[in-house]
Amino acid sequence: MINIAIDGPAGAGKSSLSRLLAKKLEYIYVDTGALYRAVGLKFSRLGFDTNLSGDLDAVLADTKVDIRFIGGEQRVFLDSEDVSDDIRTPVASMMASAVSAKPAVRAFLLDMQRQLAKTNNVVMDGRDIGTVVLPDAKVKIFLTADVAVRAERRRKELAEKGQNLPFEEVLEDMKTRDYNDSHREIAPLKQADDAVLADTTNLSFDESLELLLSIVKDGTR
Ligand code: DC
Repeated sequence: MINIAIDGPAGAGKSSLSRLLAKKLEYIYVDTGALYRAVGLKFSRLGFDTNLSGDLDAVLADTKVDIRFIGGEQRVFLDSEDVSDDIRTPVASMMASAVSAKPAVRAFLLDMQRQLAKTNNVVMDGRDIGTVVLPDAKVKIFLTADVAVRAERRRKELAEKGQNLPFEEVLEDMKTRDYNDSHREIAPLKQADDAVLADTTNLSFDESLELLLSIVKDGTR
């Protein structure tokens, strides 16, 4: 199986670019952030805040997260409910970042990710795909862009979905998540030694896709 790992900070365009890249390659696209978001949603629904104080193991023992591919698109299920839309709110983002720092949560989701990559050609995106989940991935890309550019892209994306937030607030959230994701002890966001850096600060979406395609072409030659 051919595995392509794409990691990088929030708002770098990982999901949209990975989805299209997978389509072009006729691979499956696996958005691992959605798994952490689903777990975050579970805790948030149970009344936990980002401090996550309480018995996490007991909650995880009673949690089922799985993904299904419907019409070629990934949908994420939490305890058999399709939560693919509910996980896309700013609160769900913060909860996802909080739960993702917990070793028990990472262990809970690891096998599922590896299993998918073992049985399918995948483009898998996340924070630790090239470093931890798929260290032997054929191609590893670290996708990033300047934080203000990422925040503006995210602000627009939320506005298109009817969630109008001030740029400053989106920027602050993004900086907080960047900090949390790259400073946690377990599987922090970082570029794998053998990953190719793709900086899309000054690139349009189409140019970014071209760049990724050329990196994949070089890496799978
Ligand atoms: O990619 P995203 O914004 O949907 O991810 C949500 C959160 O999940 C993010 O703040 C960090 C965490 N995450 C992670 O720790 N490891 C991954 N492989 C994917 C996401």
